[in-house]
Amino acid sequence: MTFPIKKNLQANHTQEITDANAQLKALLNAAVDAIIIIDHLGCIELFNAAAQKMFGYPSSEVVGNNIRMLMPEPYRREHDKYLSNYMETKNAKIIGTGREVKACKKNGEIFPIELSVGEVLESSHKQFVGIIRDISEQVKARSDAIANRERLAHVTRLSTMGEMAAGIAHEINQPLSAISSYAQACKNMLERSSNVPDTIAQQQKLSITLEKISSQARRAGEVIRRLRGFVKKRTAEREYVDLNVLIKDSIELAKVDTRLLDHGISLSLTASPAPLLLIDEIQIQQVLFNLIRNAIDAMEDQPTDQVNISSKWIDAQYIEVSVTDTGYGVSKENLVHLFHPFFTTKETGMGMGLPICQSIIQSHGGELRHRAGIDKGSVFSFTLPAKSIVKNKLG
Ligand SMILES: Nc1ncnc2c1ncn2[C@@H]1O[C@H](COP(=O)(O)OP(=O)(O)O)[C@@H](O)[C@H]1O
Ligand SMILES: [Mg+2]
Repeated sequence: MTFPIKKNLQANHTQEITDANAQLKALLNAAVDAIIIIDHLGCIELFNAAAQKMFGYPSSEVVGNNIRMLMPEPYRREHDKYLSNYMETKNAKIIGTGREVKACKKNGEIFPIELSVGEVLESSHKQFVGIIRDISEQVKARSDAIANRERLAHVTRLSTMGEMAAGIAHEINQPLSAISSYAQACKNMLERSSNVPDTIAQQQKLSITLEKISSQARRAGEVIRRLRGFVKKRTAEREYVDLNVLIKDSIELAKVDTRLLDHGISLSLTASPAPLLLIDEIQIQQVLFNLIRNAIDAMEDQPTDQVNISSKWIDAQYIEVSVTDTGYGVSKENLVHLFHPFFTTKETGMGMGLPICQSIIQSHGGELRHRAGIDKGSVFSFTLPAKSIVKNKLG
């Protein structure tokens, strides 16, 4: 009596398996992502339609081969080690997480992919499934965005220096006129000494004055070196920089805005432990330069009020730098637009200073914020990841 029921059950079961297979096939073929199944040795068992399109291999050319054929170095070299390590320790760096790696097409082209890997748990043998998304477009968009930001930062550095032409002339003219008057003094001394025998004292005087000439020439050279470094077209590069040195260098540079000479700058920098930042020096100088100039702009009616620059550790990993002025401050209505591109309240302003500062700081993993000053004016603060300088025994 039970026999027909059993037969029916079996028939239903077989039908279910056939349906499941058909559904799986449809899923695999419809998937936009490449789906690859490998065994515990890395041997490819399944290569769906999207994988064939992405890698340029028909299924027949990859099934049975090792998955290494789809990887460039160093992944190719490391993959066997990685699989066997997982089989022994069950410690997977990638399973269930997904990560960005590189893959290799049949024509040799290497491209970036996002790979997520899962283990096929109830199969008759060990199997892993890899789901692969070609992220060439995203990676390109990301690097285009970085390149655009760098280009924009460069263009605005150039235009700032264009506006600063008078200040630059002043910065270079000062040591040049000093050189000229010291040279004149030397000439006078020599003329005088041709009548009287040289004395040691006269020679010493001459030597001191010549030293002054050479130090002023170095000063002019230094101004030019700093300016050239600031406006040179370059690719952004990050190096460890002592923040306090960077702030002092930025102030020297900002002196091309001659109004700064009247205002003066007060500094309250954290000295211990001294902060070391992994940054693009020129870009952070640009941020400080912009903030200093905005502070001076805001204090037009108080030409002798100082700009304050301070730095402090906010925790073990972050340092905060603040530029404070006692100027006209930011009105409530303007607050929302402050960091928007082209927002300016100045007649000749461009409104690109703060947006550029913000994108530079964000690309370094920090934040740029504004708050009102205690009585009046503004405080613009940015955070940056930092570590403390460990002084060696000699240092
Ligand atoms: N320190 C400051 N005090 C008051 N307002 C400021 C300050 N810094 C920036 N602002 C406001 O933000 C606007 C945008 O600044 P920014 O992006 O540097 O462009 P710009 O200086 O060319 O106007 C300024 O026009 C000004 O209204
Ligand atoms: Mg500005």
